[in-house]
Amino acid sequence: MKVNGKHYRTVWLDGGTVKMINQPLLPHRFEVFECPTHRDTAEAIRTMVVRGAGAIGTAAGYGMAQAALEAADADPHAFLRQAAETLRRTRPTAQNLFYAIDRVLAAVDGVDDPAALRRLAVAEAQAISDEDAEAARRIGEYGEPLIRDGATVLTHCNAGWLAFADWGTALSPVYAAVRAGKTVRVLADETRPRSQGARLTAWELMAEGVDVTIIADNAAGHYLSRGQVDLVITGADRIAANGDVANKIGTYEKAVLAHAHGVPFYVAAPRSTFDSDCSAGTDIPIEQRCGDEVLYAYGWTDEGEWGRVRIAPPGAKAGNPAFDVTPARYITGLITEVGVVPATVDAVAEMLARP
Ligand code: MRU
Repeated sequence: MKVNGKHYRTVWLDGGTVKMINQPLLPHRFEVFECPTHRDTAEAIRTMVVRGAGAIGTAAGYGMAQAALEAADADPHAFLRQAAETLRRTRPTAQNLFYAIDRVLAAVDGVDDPAALRRLAVAEAQAISDEDAEAARRIGEYGEPLIRDGATVLTHCNAGWLAFADWGTALSPVYAAVRAGKTVRVLADETRPRSQGARLTAWELMAEGVDVTIIADNAAGHYLSRGQVDLVITGADRIAANGDVANKIGTYEKAVLAHAHGVPFYVAAPRSTFDSDCSAGTDIPIEQRCGDEVLYAYGWTDEGEWGRVRIAPPGAKAGNPAFDVTPARYITGLITEVGVVPATVDAVAEMLARP
């Protein structure tokens, strides 16, 4: 997607340096963050300089490529295994992280020539990024017919191009519909505690000229109950074999509300987000983040200073699960790069087996 007329991906590899759009600074500043080593890349994933399942996966793949470039010729495989552990420990829920790390490890498995190993690791990481962007584009094609001209789409968190290498998942059908000439309005949940909806979804939709209205997290029921939402589309961080979906905290309650009001609830995700080793959502590990994200609000003052302000009383405790699980029964369909399928064991298995 374009920023100030220039095409950007969310994350990219430049020589041995991983570069990424610095997401915590958005929407108020657009800067590129540089990670000279795989350890820096892991830290950028952990601290959410880059975030969103697909973008995390792409960054992790590049982090593995960096590790291959950093490894001494003597025993590069031991170094890569160590790098894989460092990257795996960053964010436990996003399946794309593990998918990308395992793919780069598999690509160099049994390769002893150091130059070949480096070349293969870089090529595999680049392929993961390119496939991610292409899958997201195709999700847009399959999702576009679900959005009628004049529709209002509710979304949660940011599952746009900032959350992938390009295009996004939940927002990709919106971009496709707008490019097809349809009028689409988006209601973006603000998505406390890190405000990905208010900051990132609003920023990228406005940059594309899409009509977006930010709503408080607890306002979705009001809009749904008044018939002011035609469909809900969210992304996913991990999808179990039975179609249960882990996504940003608050997704579950939106799905229950949509179900209560007879509004279709779709989840858009590439096949790299599915985890057949999790038979149900209860198997998916849920990341717990620092309570300060809940106790404080973060942002920019009108004077242009970045900072945080305390909301809660000093000494207050906070719980901060970063994701929740939406049971498959609340999901109308899964929008993937090979089509829209029901969230059932059989349909998920058949879809994953397609060429
Ligand atoms: O904590 P984040 O910002 O990485 O969470 C992102 C989400 O929950 C997205 O909705 C999800 O990754 C799907 S889009 C890739």
